[in-house]
Amino acid sequence: MALQQTELRPMGKSIGRKEDPRLIRGKGRYIDDIMLPNMLYMCVLRSPYAHARIRRIDASAALAAPGVKLVITGEDLAGMNLAWMPTMAGDTQMVLATGKVLFQYQEVAAVVAETRAQAEDALQLIEVDYEPLPVVVDPFKALEPDAPILREDKEKKSNHIFHWEAGDREQTEALFRDAPVIVKQDVRFPRVHPSPLEPCGCVADYNSATGRLTFYVTSQAPHAHRTVLAMVSGLPEHQIHVISPDVGGGFGNKVPVYPGYVCAIVASLKLGVPVKWIETRTENITSTNFARDYHMTAEIAAREDGRVLALRVKTVADHGAFDAAADPSKFPAGLFSIVTGSYDFRSAFVEVDGVYTNKAPGGVAYRCSFRVTEASYLIERVMDVLARRLQMDPAELRLRNFIRKDQFPYHSPTGWVYDSGDYEKTLNLALQRIGYAELRKEQAEKRARGEFMGIGISTFTEIVGAGPGHTFDIMGIKMFDSAQIRVHPTGKVIARLGVRHQGQGHETTFAQIIAEELGLSADDVLIEEGDTDTAPYGLGTYASRSTPTAGGAAALCGRRIREKARKIAAHLLEVGEDDVIWDGLAFTVKGLPGRSVSMKDVAFAAYTNVPEGMEPGLEATYYYDPPNLTFPNGAYIAVVDIDKGTGAVKVRRFMAVDDCGNVINPMIVEGQVHGGLTEGFAIAFMQDIPYDADGNCLAPNWMDYLVPTSLDTPHWETDRTVTPSPHHPIGAKGVGESPNVGSPAAFVNAVVDALSPLGVEHIDMPIFPWKVWSILREHGIDE
Ligand code: CDP
Repeated sequence: MALQQTELRPMGKSIGRKEDPRLIRGKGRYIDDIMLPNMLYMCVLRSPYAHARIRRIDASAALAAPGVKLVITGEDLAGMNLAWMPTMAGDTQMVLATGKVLFQYQEVAAVVAETRAQAEDALQLIEVDYEPLPVVVDPFKALEPDAPILREDKEKKSNHIFHWEAGDREQTEALFRDAPVIVKQDVRFPRVHPSPLEPCGCVADYNSATGRLTFYVTSQAPHAHRTVLAMVSGLPEHQIHVISPDVGGGFGNKVPVYPGYVCAIVASLKLGVPVKWIETRTENITSTNFARDYHMTAEIAAREDGRVLALRVKTVADHGAFDAAADPSKFPAGLFSIVTGSYDFRSAFVEVDGVYTNKAPGGVAYRCSFRVTEASYLIERVMDVLARRLQMDPAELRLRNFIRKDQFPYHSPTGWVYDSGDYEKTLNLALQRIGYAELRKEQAEKRARGEFMGIGISTFTEIVGAGPGHTFDIMGIKMFDSAQIRVHPTGKVIARLGVRHQGQGHETTFAQIIAEELGLSADDVLIEEGDTDTAPYGLGTYASRSTPTAGGAAALCGRRIREKARKIAAHLLEVGEDDVIWDGLAFTVKGLPGRSVSMKDVAFAAYTNVPEGMEPGLEATYYYDPPNLTFPNGAYIAVVDIDKGTGAVKVRRFMAVDDCGNVINPMIVEGQVHGGLTEGFAIAFMQDIPYDADGNCLAPNWMDYLVPTSLDTPHWETDRTVTPSPHHPIGAKGVGESPNVGSPAAFVNAVVDALSPLGVEHIDMPIFPWKVWSILREHGIDE
């Protein structure tokens, strides 16, 4: 049951979500709800070819069509120096195709008309003369010396984008040379898509009289968008007002700047009226940033008793036509080097090579702290391969290799400093809650009867909360975050943050943090995010960074308010400042328990009765640059049964024990875990974006790219352990992405465990029923 928002001392309590009355009554204001006078509509023409030279574009018939006001082509943009734009990964991306197209559904032209239907109809009238070119879909083939060069705009005449490595190659090789046991496994993390319910879109509104652009956009990072748009368009940054209204899901998809945004802005600049562009579902899946698409090979060197020694990983990252990953600048493969996970490896060496292919650009951090999901899936999968080789119980192998709680802060072999954790306690709780020993007994009995039941474990370690600014930046902008608090005379608060939630409940949880610091209730605090004219600069919400960064800023900003409030309280209580004590709800006087003033009293005095010489008012801003990331972790266990007749996998039980440090709102954390597990389930069992040899996208909509309904989704059981982050102001770690990061391995490990009597060691995701059915039939299992 959710608690009232009027609760005092709200930290750690399941306060009801303040945003829900608005969102569940259909009163949210999303991008497509924005209607402005004289607004026009834009639609985008997309390439049917994955790789083709553009010989000619004839837009004359489209321009003459009813209602059409403007057609924009790549050539028009080139004339404005806007044909290409920078990506957050430091690459460049075509806004509208010039010269050639590099993936199917690439943006070729934009039509602006009085209605959306007129714009869509006019798209059909644009004649484009394409000359098809050889297509490269397979990233390994793209690296072959005779592969066609895709990016002719680049100096480097190769499809290879970057080579990146972490760890110690020599030490790792030495440990492998002498190791008694070595296991090796190729693992693919398929190309998936964040696929938020609300696709991308914007309304660009340029006012030629004031020279100001108001840009409404469904964005996870409005400040970063404003800066990029200023850099791309040449408009002064203060003349761009970015407003990100309610966001219907982001999951990483709404971090980048997309070509449609630039085209809508150009159209509004040219026409002097607002221009709206809203993607279709197909446009969202086929052209905006995909995620994952990692081809990984991992090897573990170990002793016979199961103690792991070294880890070696080689990865090919398929980025599609443009490297449009939204990774921090210094990390072309994101934080993939967290791949040693929860285990105390002596050494590790990790390499990643990025490759161009004729596919949609990316890859974005889909509910993931930049390639952590890939890393976590890989190590959790390969630990199971090792357990199987040694004929050890996978829980036992993990317990034997965990980083022990007395090893924190733990220096990982790839250079991270893990802040805190108690992995053994977390796994033991999960084992006990699910009844592991009994389940293994049941499994043995079922196996004896020829039934296929599996138990899969994943004990992941996450790395979230980028900054700190000295290591993390996006396009040079340091990855700190911010909060600004204004306490008004009646003690009511408006707080603005540099992040932008998309359903995570910040309006409640950040109100809880601030209310806790100021002795108020969450109801007293209004949280505003997403307006660059009012909110302090911040890098946005993705990669579970909001709590570690803006959450820290909110707490410290509250404490900054309290410093001034204490001075005012001393004045009101007529005592020296040193005699004033904050008891969590009010300022009291040392030794005089009856005398106190509340924050509301202080707030009123801040505007009516401040000590002589003090500046009136009660407000503060805090830019928080965290000293380190936070390292949430968890132990997930899946139990599956396989239908021998159909190959269908039923997830019978799923136990998720998460440790995200101190919890602000347990109900919201549970909701985050449910959502992320559902996405992890979908990735494991139903999602992939394949391309055929001609580069045709074979899953361009929700008929082929499956999204689980409530009927498909298993029942989730949750619990938690708490090891606070020692460096975070309220001891919290992020949580939003943990279930997406940790769960795919639990599902796959469970299915492989079920099929292990047949000698199965690995199955690549997605585990469609036909894959399991084929394995069963190959082994003569026929019901
Ligand atoms: O950056 P994002 O908001 O996606 O992720 P997060 O920082 O993991 O937070 C997701 C939601 O869970 C927010 O409303 C947080 O305030 C809440 N949360 C919490 O209540 N306790 C934690 N220890 C971590 C997050």
